[in-house]
Amino acid sequence: DWTMASYRDEAIRKIREQVGDKRVICGLSGGVDSSVAAVLIHEAIGDQLTCVFVDHGLLRLNEAEEVVAMFRDNYNIPLIHADEADLFIGALEGVSDPEVKRKTIGKLFIDVFQREAARIDGAEFLAQGTLYPDVIESVSFSGGPSVTIKSHHNVGGLPEKMGLKLVEPLRELFKDEVRALGRELGLPEQFIGRHPFPGPGLAIRCPGEITRDKLDILRKADAVFIDQIRKHGLYDEIWQAFVAILPVRTVGVMGDGRTYDYACALRAVTSVDGMTADYYPFTHQFLGETATRIINEVKGINRCTYDITSKPPGTIEWE
Ligand code: XMP
Repeated sequence: DWTMASYRDEAIRKIREQVGDKRVICGLSGGVDSSVAAVLIHEAIGDQLTCVFVDHGLLRLNEAEEVVAMFRDNYNIPLIHADEADLFIGALEGVSDPEVKRKTIGKLFIDVFQREAARIDGAEFLAQGTLYPDVIESVSFSGGPSVTIKSHHNVGGLPEKMGLKLVEPLRELFKDEVRALGRELGLPEQFIGRHPFPGPGLAIRCPGEITRDKLDILRKADAVFIDQIRKHGLYDEIWQAFVAILPVRTVGVMGDGRTYDYACALRAVTSVDGMTADYYPFTHQFLGETATRIINEVKGINRCTYDITSKPPGTIEWE
């Protein structure tokens, strides 16, 4: 694609000009945005870049392993993997308010990130995969008072606090453009096409209090749902699809026994930029088959619902 090829060259030129011979730290989340930013910056300045992956233990099934394998093993990009699941999940104990969850995760994330970054000698820049919609949705609606619907923990005062200058090569791009740039940079298609995933991860797909038990159940159910979507060839038509585990247990019957397990909600939406969204019109056949698979394959869930709320008035995530 001609446009993206020239965007890439221009972005590389700008990164080199901004950074010179200084070192850059890039926070990797495992998502498309930070990955594309990291690969682009690596192409511009090579080993002056070190990536830091703060693993908060709220990722999807096998996700942490995949991120590490891709960056360290495939791309040979220096990567620090901070496995801090115990720290995050411990701090979230007893927390059920969505904003308190986000702030708790955001604060710890910054602490861990700062600690790891301090080990990288002489870093002067911090790279972030901030996109254009992140910039506008978390600032304000023009003319009115500043309104934040959800505090996004990946856009904030981190660089000032750390005395680092920002490198944000994707700041003018929308999601589809980031994907095109990722393809231009040769990232694997399976990875580029991945649905967006929120910084606070599974914490905001587990309304109410988080427990390890619920997170494990959620990961398994989510993997089955995504497997179903891929098998039916629907993955690329959907902006985001995931399972939320509900803070309620319901009565069911399995074989000749009674069950008392969690209910879950499937969520799948179409969207252009995440600012508005419609629920995806699965067939009843698909929904029935998926519910049966989740209930049979995932111990701990005995009821499945499908969320048909649009955004607005709903949001994409449950919290
Ligand atoms: P909502 O739920 O507000 O989400 O309709 C819009 C898009 O943003 C993602 N999202 C987040 N991303 N930190 C993030 O990095 C957050 O705190 C956060 N909250 C929501 C959501 O997954 C969707 O793509």
